[in-house]
Amino acid sequence: MATDLRVPLSDAEKSCAPRTVCVTGATGYLAGLVVQRLLASGHTVHGTCRSPDNEALVAGLKALPGAGERLKLFKADLLTAGSFDAAVRGCQCVMHTASPYVVERTQGREREMLIEPAVRGTENVLESVTRCESVTRVVLTSSCAAIYGEADEKGEGHIFSEEDWDEAATETHLPYSYSKRVAEEKAWEMCKKQSRWTMCAMNPSQIFGPPTSSRTDGVSVSMVKTLMTGGMWPAAPAIGLGVVDVRDVAAAHCRAMAKDDASGRYILCSRSLHLLEIAALLREKFPKACWLPRYKAPKALVVALAPLLGMGRDIARSQINKTPLFDNSKAKRELGMEFIDPSETLEDQVNGMVKLGIMQKKF
Ligand SMILES: NC(=O)c1ccc[n+]([C@@H]2O[C@H](COP(=O)([O-])OP(=O)(O)OC[C@H]3O[C@@H](n4cnc5c(N)ncnc54)[C@H](OP(=O)(O)O)[C@@H]3O)[C@@H](O)[C@H]2O)c1
Repeated sequence: MATDLRVPLSDAEKSCAPRTVCVTGATGYLAGLVVQRLLASGHTVHGTCRSPDNEALVAGLKALPGAGERLKLFKADLLTAGSFDAAVRGCQCVMHTASPYVVERTQGREREMLIEPAVRGTENVLESVTRCESVTRVVLTSSCAAIYGEADEKGEGHIFSEEDWDEAATETHLPYSYSKRVAEEKAWEMCKKQSRWTMCAMNPSQIFGPPTSSRTDGVSVSMVKTLMTGGMWPAAPAIGLGVVDVRDVAAAHCRAMAKDDASGRYILCSRSLHLLEIAALLREKFPKACWLPRYKAPKALVVALAPLLGMGRDIARSQINKTPLFDNSKAKRELGMEFIDPSETLEDQVNGMVKLGIMQKKF
């Protein structure tokens, strides 16, 4: 389903000559909007996914304006060497978004579920890029998880910037954060070994906003569904996170491709909130949503019940009562980002989820 892109095309995007762009993980929550924005700007997209023949999964992509003429889907798996060669062939730019975003039930399987696909996947994609002479630009979807693991790891009140690298995560403690940090490090290492292609890394905080497909397995969609439908009623843990709109993140990816002078890492974050503040913003927009949490859950209780809340115990233990702060000025200055306010992001996400049948409107 085409979503209102909301963020206007920048001058750099408008004046960028049509390119062929490979988007890995095209069936993902973020990638759907990246593909939509690229098609809307006149580019041709080579989207990769593991199951291009799964009509239910790819129908939304195929229905995007321009997809009939300018979207081609390729089968590729992060864990298979050479898998991305065909999709990357003939492209000028590669946007590597595919990576598992899983924060629950990974215990004992961190390597297989997160670290291998993130790190070996990045290696595989960038080896294809290096083999393919037409590619001159890579936009890597990293994360604020590569910037920090625990909000206070650099001291209370520290404002995280692009200079920071997560030092708290390990293979078994915050393994998703670890997978993103090691994957981004690997990407920079491979970028520095050659001179034909340049790279920008996008470091979004927690992404919210309207989904483009009815998939419910992603963290961004399931977190809002859990809040709205009583999964955290009556009390939520005071876990703080940076919030950014999916439409801003898609715009930042496209601007980083179009602007030759964009370089390095970009923190993408509108503002930091904790879950109860997110619930309060939702309540303001949807006063009839009676299952939103109102109270702060005690830390000990949250740690005990963490698996039932869809979160690892280590995450609960290390994130509660802490809110990370981010400096988003580089993305504002260099990519022209203005960052949509989370209240609008969350309102549009709920309305989008209702429209797609992910939630029934009872509020
Ligand atoms: N959502 C957020 O809040 C957030 C915040 C910061 C950064 N990010 C990053 O943004 C990117 C997209 O996240 P998302 O939220 O859009 O996640 P998502 O909806 O779960 O999409 C992840 C994509 O990765 C693909 N993938 C996973 N394992 C794969 C494998 N072994 N081989 C090939 N493809 C594989 C999935 O493909 P299938 O369709 O085949 O399953 C899916 O398209 C990720 O790199 C994530 O780390 C997300």
